[in-house]
Amino acid sequence: MAKNVLGADKSGRPRIVVLGSLNMDLVLRVAHAPEAGETLNGRSMTTVPGGKGGNQAVSCARQGAAVSLLGRVGADVYGQALRQALTCDGIDHTGVQTDAQQPTGVALVMVDDDAQNRIVVIAGANAGVEVDARDPDLAQRLRGAAFLLAQFETPLAQVVAAAVLAHRVGCKVLLNPSPAQALPIELWPLLDTLVVNEVEARLLCGLPADTPAQAAAAARALRERGVARVVVTLGADGAVAADALSCRHHPALAVKAVDTTAAGDTFLGALAVTLANGQSFDDAVRHGIRAAALCVTKVGAQPSIPDRNAVLQSALPPDWISL
Ligand code: RIB
Repeated sequence: MAKNVLGADKSGRPRIVVLGSLNMDLVLRVAHAPEAGETLNGRSMTTVPGGKGGNQAVSCARQGAAVSLLGRVGADVYGQALRQALTCDGIDHTGVQTDAQQPTGVALVMVDDDAQNRIVVIAGANAGVEVDARDPDLAQRLRGAAFLLAQFETPLAQVVAAAVLAHRVGCKVLLNPSPAQALPIELWPLLDTLVVNEVEARLLCGLPADTPAQAAAAARALRERGVARVVVTLGADGAVAADALSCRHHPALAVKAVDTTAAGDTFLGALAVTLANGQSFDDAVRHGIRAAALCVTKVGAQPSIPDRNAVLQSALPPDWISL
């Protein structure tokens, strides 16, 4: 067993708990997005397992973590298919509830020839996720785990409840506040790591974060809220990482993108597992950038998430620059 692995299970894998959404993605390939009032003949439609929670859980599992997922699906074929996909990745989904009334969440993902996507999510069962902070089983899952990962496609109150419990039992909280939403004041002191894109950074600190220099100022402002580590992801411009030591710009890898869906989720999982393996923050950001670069070269959410070996065999990004 590697010495520095945080929250390791019996086989030495870091344990990670993910709270988040599970969607069936209906992926439409189109030449371009239709204008208002336009009817367009698309190229193809496929159903692909997705949802930010599911994707981040899959990314963690493919990077070698023992993953336990908390979420909610409907009692329908999409729910069954999503559970099956999680089983294939060895993810514990006994914490995924089944909603007898609401259907499984769906996301309509339109991907054009320039690799741009437009996504509409219908939350369905995700909106009913319940976290019982008094549940001893949940406390047991979180106790000794390296991280709780959460996003905002499940109700905010449930994210807060899980973060409170995680913090109480000593499990670090890694938050990806996507889709962008203001954070309740009580959530800030519970966060260990915050990963935001340009839009989320601006919403949370009021500063623009479109360039590495702007992202550095935004990351510093977010750290002043008490978060130990902040990453601002910048798409093709890489990412800016700030911790107590300094602020660094990590350039991206140049790749031919075909679909950026789940690139952020892939980054999150690779970052979390690398940190849990005891590696440095900068190594974790670089590993996340390499994983995301592989993800965007394939279409669809979960099918495009690479495993650890693929990432280790991929090209290295340029060195970081201190800001
Ligand atoms: O982050 C990508 C995900 O966002 C997609 O898989 C879709 O389901 C939406 O939740």
